[in-house]
Amino acid sequence: MAYGLLKGKRGIIFGALNEQSIAWKIAERAVEEGGRITLSNTAMAIRMGTTKQLAERIGTIVIPADATSVTDLENVFKTSMEFFGGKVDFILHSIGMSPNVRKKRSYDDLDYEYLKNTLDISAISFHKVLQVARKLDAISDWGSVVAMSYIAAQRTLYGYNDMADAKAMLESIARSFGYIYGRDKKIRVNTVSQSPTRTTAGSGVKGMENLIDFTGRMSPLGNADADDCANYVVTLFSDLTKKVTMQNLFHDGGFSSMGMSLRAMTAYDRSLEGFERTDD
Ligand SMILES: NC(=O)c1ccc[n+]([C@@H]2O[C@H](COP(=O)([O-])OP(=O)(O)OC[C@H]3O[C@@H](n4cnc5c(N)ncnc54)[C@H](O)[C@@H]3O)[C@@H](O)[C@H]2O)c1
Repeated sequence: MAYGLLKGKRGIIFGALNEQSIAWKIAERAVEEGGRITLSNTAMAIRMGTTKQLAERIGTIVIPADATSVTDLENVFKTSMEFFGGKVDFILHSIGMSPNVRKKRSYDDLDYEYLKNTLDISAISFHKVLQVARKLDAISDWGSVVAMSYIAAQRTLYGYNDMADAKAMLESIARSFGYIYGRDKKIRVNTVSQSPTRTTAGSGVKGMENLIDFTGRMSPLGNADADDCANYVVTLFSDLTKKVTMQNLFHDGGFSSMGMSLRAMTAYDRSLEGFERTDD
């Protein structure tokens, strides 16, 4: 169901690789809500993924950019403003990648050049997006910027590796830049901390299926999927959340406030050992 929440608004969506991508769902939902968007991803992702198909379907352009390159980002903003004939109102940063995770380097055996890349791609690129936007005065007053995060920024989760450090930095950037952008232009900056979700990036996380099972058992509302996330994020782009800024907003079915749930505890019931489990 659409509510026209983004009618008249224009935005840039970074990170839609394929139909599973969180950014893909948010892009579709933003358009459903009446928004106009441009899409951006790396040249390689555009070649390998299906971003172009999404662009054709929703009648927009895809602007190639490596989010670690200030020059590329300047081009994304300039091209988007030309396309729209004015400034943008919302931005989604849905970008993450760790070469250490890809190359299976464990957290106690990190390659430090890879670590620099992890931080540059997954966190510093968010600063670059914000700084470039501000220098080009590319976001309208009362605009909204959202980046995707994960609870490993606050709690240790097995296998999340150096992405945990990147997410902690990402959330800090949202607070630090949120102050400056809020003070000067009333632009809000938030991160959304999403449940584990089956996507290309998600599948890189060690033991993803077990993690999804565990967080599902722990969350009273169950895991939030990418469609749920899209519903939430469009409200953050809308005028209904104008005074929400510098926050890390958990979107996880309640997981972040739980210590132990009955459904998780029953998974460890020794009396059921040797029997087929009936609890789920
Ligand atoms: N999937 C999950 O479980 C989960 C949970 C919480 C948060 N997140 C976060 O959500 C965001 C989106 O991930 P996703 O799960 O939709 O996976 P995804 O693989 O669909 O999206 C990741 C995107 O990052 C892009 N990217 C990688 N390097 C880039 C670069 N140098 N410049 C520009 N773009 C680059 C990829 O091309 C891809 O489109 C990430 O920040 C991820 O950490 C994911």
